[in-house]
Amino acid sequence: EFRPRHILVTGGAGFIGANFAHWIARNRPDVHVTVIDALTYAGKRENLDGIPEDRLTFVHGDICDAVLVESLFSRAGSRSGVAPIDAIVHFAAESHNDNSILDAAPFLRTNVDGTYVLLEAARRHGIRFHHISTDEVYGDLELGEPRKFTESSPYKPSSPYSASKAASDHLVRAWHRTYGVRATISNCSNNYGPYQHVEKFIPRQITNILAGIRPKLYGQGLAVRDWISVEDHCSAIWLILTRGRIGETYLVGADGEYSNIDVLRMILARMGQPADAFDHVNDRPGGDKRYAIDATKIMTELGWRPRYTDFAEGLDATIAWYAAHRDWWEPDKAATEEKYRLQGH
Ligand code: NAD
Ligand code: DAU
Repeated sequence: EFRPRHILVTGGAGFIGANFAHWIARNRPDVHVTVIDALTYAGKRENLDGIPEDRLTFVHGDICDAVLVESLFSRAGSRSGVAPIDAIVHFAAESHNDNSILDAAPFLRTNVDGTYVLLEAARRHGIRFHHISTDEVYGDLELGEPRKFTESSPYKPSSPYSASKAASDHLVRAWHRTYGVRATISNCSNNYGPYQHVEKFIPRQITNILAGIRPKLYGQGLAVRDWISVEDHCSAIWLILTRGRIGETYLVGADGEYSNIDVLRMILARMGQPADAFDHVNDRPGGDKRYAIDATKIMTELGWRPRYTDFAEGLDATIAWYAAHRDWWEPDKAATEEKYRLQGH
C-alpha cells in the first residue's frame, strides 16, 4: 500500500477537486494537501474554506506554467513540518462540453499541455501520479442496450472536451510505459454534489427554479447519464491512489442511470413545481446518448463500494445545499444563462 503524506491536488478549487480536498481533510488528517488552481470561471478559493490552515497550501497558478510547477517541489517541501510532495492527483481541466463546442483552445491547452507539464514533473521527481478522467473518452452507448463501458472499451470521444481528455489519458499511459512514471487513471461517470458550477445540468435546473427561471431541457431529454455522488468518487480515488496497481485504469460508477427528463422531473417534484414547468431547448451538437459504467474491476480488485446510492436522497441534499448557498452561485448565474441563451440552450 502506498501511503502519501503530501498530495498535490491540481484543480482543487473546482467541483470535484475541492470535494476531494475536503474528503482528505476529514478522512486523512495526516496528509497535507497543496492545491494548484488557476481560478478560472470554474474555480473559487472559498471552496476550500473550512480546511484547517496547517493542512492546506494554496497556490494560485496555471498547470501549464512549467517553471511554477517545478518550483512547487522545492517550495512546498520547505514549509516547516510538511513532508515533500509525494503524489499528484490531477483534476485540473476545462470540464464543460458546451464550452468546448464554442472554443476548444483552452481545452487543448489545459487538458493536453497541462497534463504534459505535470507528467514531466512527476517523471523528474519520481512522483506517484493519479489522473482523473471521464467515461466520455469511450463515446456513447445506445439507449436501452445492455452494454456498459469497461476498461477495455475502445476510445471514441465525441466532443472537443472528451477528445482532449482522451489525449490526456494517452499521454499518461505513454509516460508510464516509456519513462516508468508510477501512474494510474480513473474514468468516472457524471458526478453530482456541492460546489458544482451552475453551468452543469443538475445545478443549473435547481438554481433556475430557485431564481424563478424555467428549467431547460436539451431536446427531448432522452439522453441517459450514470450519476454518482461526488463523495463516492472521492473514496474511489483514494483507494486507487493508495492500493491501485501501477499502470492500470479503473472505471468508477455507481449504477445510477437516469434519463435527463427523469432527473428533471425528480427535481421539479422535490422542489414543489408542476411536472411540465420547463422549456425544451436546442440539443447539444453531437451530444452523447448514453453513458453507463461497469465498475466490476474496482469493486473486485480494490473492494470499493459506493455508499450514497439513493439518488433521490442525493438530489434532496444537493437541492438543500444550493438553497442554503445562494451567495456562492448567484454571482455566476446571469453570465451563465446569457451564454446559454446565445447558444439556444
Ligand atoms: P471544474 O470545471 O469544476 O473544475 C476545474 C478546476 O480546474 C477549476 O477550479 C479551474 O480553475 C481549474 N483549472 C482550469 N484550468 C486550469 C489551469 N490551466 N491550471 C490550473 N487550474 C486550472 O471541473 P470538475 O467537474 O471538478 O472536474 C474535475 C476533473 O474531473 C476534470 O479533469 C474532469 O475531466 C473530471 N471528471 C469530471 C466529471 C464530472 O461529472 N464533473 C466526471 C468524470 C471526470
Ligand atoms: O460523464 C462525465 C462527464 O459528465 C464529465 O466528464 C464532464 O466534465 C461533466 O461536465 C459531465 O458531462 P455531461 O456533458 O454529461 O454533463 P452536463 O451536465 O453538461 O449535461 C448532462 C446532460 O444534460 C447532457 O445530456 C446535456 C443535458 N443538459 C445539460 C444542461 C446544462 C440539459 O438537458 N439541460 C441543460 O441545461
